[in-house]
Amino acid sequence: MQALRSFFTCLLFLFSLLRISAATALSTITPSQCIRDGETLVSVGGSYELGFFSPGKSKSRYVGIWYTDSTDAVVWVANRETPLGDSSGLLKLTEQGVLVLLLNSSNSIVWSSNSSRIAGNPMSQLLDSGNLVVLDGNETNPDNFLWQSFDYPCHTFLPKMKIGWDLVTGLDRYLSSWKSTEDPAPGEFSIRMDYRGLPQLLLMKGAKIQARAGSWNGLYLTGLGYGVREPNPISGTEFVLNKEEVYFEYSLRNMSVFSRFVLNPLGVGERFPWVYQTRSWELASTFLADRCESYALCGPFSSCSSNGNSPKCACLKGFVPKSSKDWNSGYWSDGCVRRTPLACSDGDDFITYSGIKLPDTSTSWFDKSMSLKECKGLCLGNCSCTACANLDIRDGGSGCVLWFDNLTDIREFTLGGGQDLYIRVAASELGTS
Ligand SMILES: *[C@@H]1O[C@H](CO)[C@@H](O)[C@H](O)[C@H]1NC(C)=O
Ligand SMILES: *[C@@H]1O[C@H](CO)[C@@H](O)[C@H](O)[C@H]1NC(C)=O
Ligand SMILES: *[C@@H]1O[C@H](CO)[C@@H](O)[C@H](O)[C@H]1NC(C)=O
Ligand SMILES: *[C@@H]1O[C@H](CO)[C@@H](O)[C@H](O)[C@H]1NC(C)=O
Ligand SMILES: *[C@@H]1O[C@H](CO)[C@@H](O)[C@H](O)[C@H]1NC(C)=O
Repeated sequence: MQALRSFFTCLLFLFSLLRISAATALSTITPSQCIRDGETLVSVGGSYELGFFSPGKSKSRYVGIWYTDSTDAVVWVANRETPLGDSSGLLKLTEQGVLVLLLNSSNSIVWSSNSSRIAGNPMSQLLDSGNLVVLDGNETNPDNFLWQSFDYPCHTFLPKMKIGWDLVTGLDRYLSSWKSTEDPAPGEFSIRMDYRGLPQLLLMKGAKIQARAGSWNGLYLTGLGYGVREPNPISGTEFVLNKEEVYFEYSLRNMSVFSRFVLNPLGVGERFPWVYQTRSWELASTFLADRCESYALCGPFSSCSSNGNSPKCACLKGFVPKSSKDWNSGYWSDGCVRRTPLACSDGDDFITYSGIKLPDTSTSWFDKSMSLKECKGLCLGNCSCTACANLDIRDGGSGCVLWFDNLTDIREFTLGGGQDLYIRVAASELGTS
């Protein structure tokens, strides 16, 4: 009994110590300070913590950022590829404003941040968004960072983080999976923005496309169409496309709600909201849950629809299986071919498909202001144009996307979402089935 009581007294004491240390924790480091293994930096509002950790059973030490309330949920790692072998690591800020992680035992630099500018009065701060920034205390614009961890995402996509390109500097911000739950080094999978045609968000395995979240239609990413017609009360998404930047981001409407999107080592994207009642993360949705999300499952000129878990491929109207033997045995990846060649000069028309995930846009062409009529006219005027659609579906539709040659990775949504796609066929195909 006595032992139990003193155990609890001890626990209470520990808790109060923890609280005191949290209350007095640093959120900023200057060149005269450093963070040692065992010490942490706590964000200004207390949501995130930065320090040294070892993932799982690994003995390697890494510098990372995690949730104060959930220390296992690491959201960012500095020295992903250069783990420390002992606990003599020191995180410092140089007089020039560069964060360096060094090993005191050997005095070698293991990792460093990067900046093209030199600060007069550098400091590094962990913001309450989970962003670790280096800024110049003499700078009047507080958002003009010399460096920020949000520019170098790891496997976690946090609110207000950007996935996409700074077209001026060429910075490509993308998510990359960990090698394993015990090794945060970049694994095989990534989620990145492809802006070769109309920009689209891709899940890649190495250099191969695994799945497409797709292009932005003004309201949502076309591949994530189902169930997103209603405005989401919890989170909002934004897509920015201009001369300087192309990126996707999301935000949470309530700052005291946490949600993280993690690309796991197997290449599955998982969204976890934090549940206050149970103080745990609960899996809310996964990306790549549905077989129709596998890139180009149905091959060219074919569309995928799914009933429950079984995908079904169907040739677009006016197209027939390239190899009907393979097609009938469920081998779909050769896709379909045109039954009647296009007339090209005149005598072609469009078949309208509704509720569609637009095809791969990597070789598409787009214009933000053209009307649908102009768009269709432009398509009919170019022999290699095979389909067109509105770029933005808001307010009755605007803008133009044109596809040339193959149409791949089309999906039909049965539960709502998606948009109209106009597929070019020879006029003689209209009215046939
Ligand atoms: C680095 O190591 C030396 C020698 O062990 C020790 O005296 C010093 O306090 C260490 N520096 C820091 C910042 O911990
Ligand atoms: C550091 O910056 C240089 C040039 O600005 C860039 O090439 C390099 O990839 C950057 N390294 C890291 C780790 O960000
Ligand atoms: C920056 O501010 C510090 C003090 O806040 C001052 O001593 C220093 O001269 C300033 N440096 C520049 C480059 O303005
Ligand atoms: C924000 O979320 C917290 C925690 O769930 C809740 O207590 C609070 O009422 C919410 N605030 C708003 C404005 O919805
Ligand atoms: C048709 O479009 C393709 C792809 O944009 C382009 O290379 C080609 O020049 C166009 N042809 C004509 C006749 O406009």
